[in-house]
Amino acid sequence: MKPPGTAGAPGSCDVLVLGAGLAGMTAALEAARTGSVVLATKTALGDGSTRWAQGGIAVAAGADDVDVHVADTLAAGAGSCDPDAVVAVCAGGPAAVRALAGRGVEFDRGPDGGPALGLEAAHSRPRILHAGGDRTGAAISAALTAAVRRSDVVVHEDAFLVGLVVDAGRVVGADLLLRTASGAEVAHRVDAGAVVLATGGAGQLFSRTTNPAVATGDGLAAAWRAGAGIADLEMVQFHPTVAAVPQPFLVSEAVRGEGAVLLDAAGHRFMPGVDPRAELAPRDVVARATGRAVAAHGGRPALLDATVLRARTGRGFAHRFPGIAALCAAAGIDPDREPVPVTPAAHYLMGGVRTDSRGRTSVPGLWAAGEVACTGVHGANRLASNSLLEALVTGSRVAADVAAVAAGACGEPPGFAADEVVELPGRATARASHVARRDLRAALWEHAGLFRDAAGLAVAAKLLTPDEPPLELAGLPGVDRRAHEDANLLLVARLLVTAAALRTESLGAHHREDHPETPGAPRRRTLRRTP
Ligand code: SIN
Repeated sequence: MKPPGTAGAPGSCDVLVLGAGLAGMTAALEAARTGSVVLATKTALGDGSTRWAQGGIAVAAGADDVDVHVADTLAAGAGSCDPDAVVAVCAGGPAAVRALAGRGVEFDRGPDGGPALGLEAAHSRPRILHAGGDRTGAAISAALTAAVRRSDVVVHEDAFLVGLVVDAGRVVGADLLLRTASGAEVAHRVDAGAVVLATGGAGQLFSRTTNPAVATGDGLAAAWRAGAGIADLEMVQFHPTVAAVPQPFLVSEAVRGEGAVLLDAAGHRFMPGVDPRAELAPRDVVARATGRAVAAHGGRPALLDATVLRARTGRGFAHRFPGIAALCAAAGIDPDREPVPVTPAAHYLMGGVRTDSRGRTSVPGLWAAGEVACTGVHGANRLASNSLLEALVTGSRVAADVAAVAAGACGEPPGFAADEVVELPGRATARASHVARRDLRAALWEHAGLFRDAAGLAVAAKLLTPDEPPLELAGLPGVDRRAHEDANLLLVARLLVTAAALRTESLGAHHREDHPETPGAPRRRTLRRTP
């Protein structure tokens, strides 16, 4: 499936995968069964958000659980999931997880030797597989990194995505910046028959986030410039429990699954008064309640009290959560004896590059999988630990679809007919940002965070709109990765704020203080750049 006339040329391949988390490495390994694959990643292999995942991977606990897993996913998604996509991911889960185990991931086992299944919010039964206690993402990343290194996949690490190459309306490759041994940046074009975007999310849009520093929305920005539709970008998941310490870190929902409770700064347990499911209500509900508890106490963090775990399990916190225990210890907190101060933070982008459940985008030649994509599986509120599952299943489905297309079985084009499409003016090339990153992140946290309204969104939109026409980045001297990231953050921030202003209703994670009403039949909204 090489682009015409390039077979065997340096810098050309059948499939170019951008990103090396669970979705990207799965797609690369699967695609390498049938063709040549180049995998380019911004940092080192396995260094994206996947490695940070603590809770685990949700998967049906037996054949009779697939329907229940589907129902839980749809319920958490606030009526906004794509049911076909949900069924594809939940039903495909068990086989995909077996394949992952076959690639060397050792999931934790219970005393009976069977899989140890955790419980997390809005799951109606325990079905979360974990590895190394709370180091599931690290275990998956390590196993897949080793598998990629053993494979024929050609890897470019420290490779920055500058843009997708579009020819006659089709994505045919990507422009990268590679770093040489001496530290110099060199431009490098990879021509490809198919490009798979698996570049992760954009948590760095917000001043409080669980995401790694690399999550600057580079893939989203590249897809937008290439003409792809971007859906439901206002749907940002905020995690309720991020340690409020100088070096913040996620405190997994699995900790609440084991019995920890949330208290306000005055020591009052607030969740039972908010939702009958208390601390195990859907994540958007717990995040907003925690945000309100923090605000009601003048910004003093809420408290996650896990001291009950020792009495319940007979073992200390560190036995089940060694990674979080180590982070707590470094912050001077002993979760067996004292509560952990927590606040919400931006965690996961449920919107993204619009794809169908095969990962096809609206632009021929371009597929997307993982957090960068919006398959519709997560709707307006992702069910805990469904992100790793979606990345795994979709990464594999993308590779299968790319191979089918290469073999001439093009199938139906992606059908996004039910989406409301809004066209916006935009450029195909990157423009320099006029906003300091710190100011952008603070504005999004304040005005496009847990609680939104028209006035706040307008303040953010004004900050994000330059007074003068922006300069083309490529023409400026001294343009480096940071300048590209800033341009990408600005573009994605503007799309997010626009999407949040357009949705004058409250739905899952998107909460409008001025429009608390929930729509009866929520509609997916896709933003498209005018050609
Ligand atoms: C967590 O461990 O709480 C995060 C898991 C997820 O985001 O699904």
